[in-house]
Amino acid sequence: MSALASLIQTADWKKEKHSPVVEAPEAVKAGEAFKVAFGIGKEIAHPNTAEHHITYITLFFQPEGNKFPYQVAHVEFSAHGEVETFTDPWAKVMVKVNSAGTFIALAHCNIHGLWEGTKEVKLEA
Ligand SMILES: [Fe+2]
Repeated sequence: MSALASLIQTADWKKEKHSPVVEAPEAVKAGEAFKVAFGIGKEIAHPNTAEHHITYITLFFQPEGNKFPYQVAHVEFSAHGEVETFTDPWAKVMVKVNSAGTFIALAHCNIHGLWEGTKEVKLEA
């Protein structure tokens, strides 16, 4: 295991405020766009202050049987109350895939490091 891999934390997002949630259909049609939402704090809110916040979430897709994950989106959350503006750590993207696979969200908290959440998607028969 690489040094970075050993630093990525995972936990049930219903119990851990840092774990990213990935929302996508259970099954999709190949080549048809569908919505993927990803974010932090669906069940337990994470602080969003200048001192403590989520800095970014990167979304990857790993097609079934593939060795490598492919980056789908990268969202920076830039406002944390410094100027009375807050970016909630959530994003939605439209995605097309040609095979089943797994979405992997990698979130970064400026204090508590890297957290991973996943969601499998199947192809409709
Ligand atoms: Fe945190």
